[in-house]
Amino acid sequence: MNEHIMVDVRNLKKHFTKGGEVLKAVDGVSFQIRKGETFGLVGESGSGKSTVGRCLIRLYDYTEGEVFFDGQNLSKLRDKQLKPFRRRIQTIFQDPYSSLNPSMSVLDLIGEPMDIHGIYKKADERKEFVAGLLEKVGLKREHLYRYPHEFSGGQRQRISIARALSVRPDFVVCDEPISALDVSVQAQVVNMLEDLQAEFGLTYLFIAHDLSMVRHISDRIGVMYRGRLVEVAESDELYDNPLHPYTKALLSSIPIPDPRAANEKMAVKYEVPTAGDGVVPELREVSPGHFVADH
Ligand SMILES: Nc1ncnc2c1ncn2[C@@H]1O[C@H](COP(=O)(O)OP(=O)(O)O)[C@@H](O)[C@H]1O
Ligand SMILES: [Mg+2]
Repeated sequence: MNEHIMVDVRNLKKHFTKGGEVLKAVDGVSFQIRKGETFGLVGESGSGKSTVGRCLIRLYDYTEGEVFFDGQNLSKLRDKQLKPFRRRIQTIFQDPYSSLNPSMSVLDLIGEPMDIHGIYKKADERKEFVAGLLEKVGLKREHLYRYPHEFSGGQRQRISIARALSVRPDFVVCDEPISALDVSVQAQVVNMLEDLQAEFGLTYLFIAHDLSMVRHISDRIGVMYRGRLVEVAESDELYDNPLHPYTKALLSSIPIPDPRAANEKMAVKYEVPTAGDGVVPELREVSPGHFVADH
């Protein structure tokens, strides 16, 4: 396959040191995301998903490894050289309450990233572009001069999405973008993300801790367990033919769609078997496109 690789993560490690203890949040993760694809990243809370996302946008410097974006090795770039990539790579976070500055109007919330990157210097053009984006995310022009507290959670997430898309990115890290939303609006937001992906030719990393929505949106899925990928496969293949015992455990614990239950820790009873020397197995391809790290 000679499909265009948008994101190429090679042996990424991010270790945190806390009071002399080393926490291996991400410990040797490799995967690729093709242009226009949605790559889902799943795993229990604390498995390192967000840390991978933060390394990709270089919010964190990483301990080891490399991240290539559209052929460029971001690992080596300094702040100034990273600036164009900080436009091309955007993020949507889980919590639409804390990620929007409450004292800014919708116009400025969505306009701010464009100001930072010097897009639309004329106020009227900027406003028209923002109004157009608002409509694309299912809001209205009359919302331009309102403030975050005047919106529901789902609407705020729509504002966050418009904000991320305002600078016309190529790649969006969606870090649990629907987890904090009412179940009734989750599907709407996911469908909208898919429509926007098709319209703007976006590539997504879609992070989630439950699997119910990820199957629907993802082309391929990587399963994370304690800082490592234990299985990577096409979405349907992963669900129909999970090979790693942790993936099987995770799939059998798909939470019921109840917002209160979704906050409870999923009970995935599983310990990754290591070889006698404590070495965790590497991912290997067991059928075309299906990788598993198992003995
Ligand atoms: N800035 C940080 N400093 C120290 N530890 C962190 C930091 N960010 C994340 N961690 C730790 O790294 C591990 C993975 O966290 P995270 O990537 O947020 O997991 P996930 O997104 O899968 O829930 C957790 O044990 C978490 O406590
Ligand atoms: Mg997270």
